[in-house]
Amino acid sequence: MKPLLRIENLSVYAGDRPLLENLSLSLCRGERLTILGETGAGKSILIQAIMGLLPPSLRASGSIQIDGRDLATLSRRELECLWGRRLAMLPQEPWHALDPLMRAGRQVAEVYACVLRQDAERAAANARRDLAGVGLEQAGDKLPGQLSGGMAQRLAFCAATAGGAQIVLADEPTKGLDADRRDHIAELLRRKGEEGCVLTISHDLEVARRIGGRVLVMRGGRPLEEGPAEQVLNAPTTDYSCRLIQAAPGHWPRIERRADGEPGPAVLEARGLAKRHGGKRLFQGLDLRVGRGEILGLVGDSGCGKSSLGDILLGLLAPDAGQVARAPGIARHRYLKLYQDPPAAFAADIPLGRLFADLLRLHRLDASRLPPLLERLRLHPTLLERPAHEVSGGELQRLAIARALLLEPVFLFADEPVSRLDPITAREVVQLLTSVATEHRCALLLVSHDPELVERVCKRTLRLG
Ligand SMILES: Nc1ncnc2c1ncn2[C@@H]1O[C@H](COP(=O)(O)OP(=O)(O)OP(=O)(O)O)[C@@H](O)[C@H]1O
Ligand SMILES: [Mg+2]
Repeated sequence: MKPLLRIENLSVYAGDRPLLENLSLSLCRGERLTILGETGAGKSILIQAIMGLLPPSLRASGSIQIDGRDLATLSRRELECLWGRRLAMLPQEPWHALDPLMRAGRQVAEVYACVLRQDAERAAANARRDLAGVGLEQAGDKLPGQLSGGMAQRLAFCAATAGGAQIVLADEPTKGLDADRRDHIAELLRRKGEEGCVLTISHDLEVARRIGGRVLVMRGGRPLEEGPAEQVLNAPTTDYSCRLIQAAPGHWPRIERRADGEPGPAVLEARGLAKRHGGKRLFQGLDLRVGRGEILGLVGDSGCGKSSLGDILLGLLAPDAGQVARAPGIARHRYLKLYQDPPAAFAADIPLGRLFADLLRLHRLDASRLPPLLERLRLHPTLLERPAHEVSGGELQRLAIARALLLEPVFLFADEPVSRLDPITAREVVQLLTSVATEHRCALLLVSHDPELVERVCKRTLRLG
């Protein structure tokens, strides 16, 4: 059978620094491949290369063939004709796939109308059906900015796949989704893979298991191990794959639960909080006391109001009822949040180093604290030379954590703080956050869709919805 997608000896360089080296793979109809691997391994770069969307500053060698045609020989117009029809991408950041000014239903209907030339009525009906299929039947009239991170992710999935493309590339399509929704998206991808072929990037081993097909493990720009999903996930042969698979939260020791000890005096107290969004009640009569150094979990389905609660606690969003009291005498900037979508926290085009320098200057912080913090987060200092859109999703997530910790927070609302990290790095980062909570008495409100992670790290858990 002729492959739909064939990659031979693909390498990508930034100057003389390789980001991806000598990668070859092919996918025929009915095949699924899931790529697991270290944050910064070059996974998203691979997907960008297949789409023909590498930034001009990067240089690629080797060949990529779609339906037997070499991408390098296609004009920009021919390439664009493939998008949505033959080749569809779900980018790592769902917001990048959505038009911020177009309502959810329209975003999907447009694909049916423009790509498949359906009349408006049929396109709208198909869009409604697709949205209902991912639990978004109520969200058709919403703008992307009114959706939660997980809802935006599901909307992006519908918009990307509506054109019926046979080659689907999905970059971490289930991050931040609760287990049921995650399994549902994995099932949709598995089915897409029966009609055409699917290449998925994920840090979630369960997603790889459910999609099935083959698994490829990558690290440092190189493929390490490839084989049938069951084989790689159950009996990996390389040391790195073994460690990666062992590092899933289900295997973390529970000892970390003891990390928070007895909660200290309150840093934050909320009484009778209520919030509605677009006619839906998110919560009502909610009381919460968070003590210094306490690690508290916050869980609930995608779209239930976790991020909204965080914004209310931080004074970024007004509640419909109730009050929030922060401890007196503590500077406002020490109450912080880690955004669910790290790009939301950084100016896109300014070198990260300049953003850090501004922060150090503004708050008169000791600049010598930055290098050890970066090292602890396994971030190379040269990353700071680039702007946010030129580092990987997981690198940016860790840079956001470094920036928050520099400010010595007393309360940190950590909204899915490890959603873009491989299990090994995720474990290290969670350990860092819990030790900051213990050593510096910073209260941590940890949002996660992963019950195993929350259970291992938090003594007390608040469930919304
Ligand atoms: N435009 C760019 N210029 C220079 N380096 C880049 C650029 N874009 C990405 N990189 C670097 O290339 C490496 C691979 O990036 P990539 O985004 O592919 O990682 P990834 O495997 O997707 O990681 P993650 O799991 O964190 O998303 C990273 O070290 C990143 O900093
Ligand atoms: Mg990536």
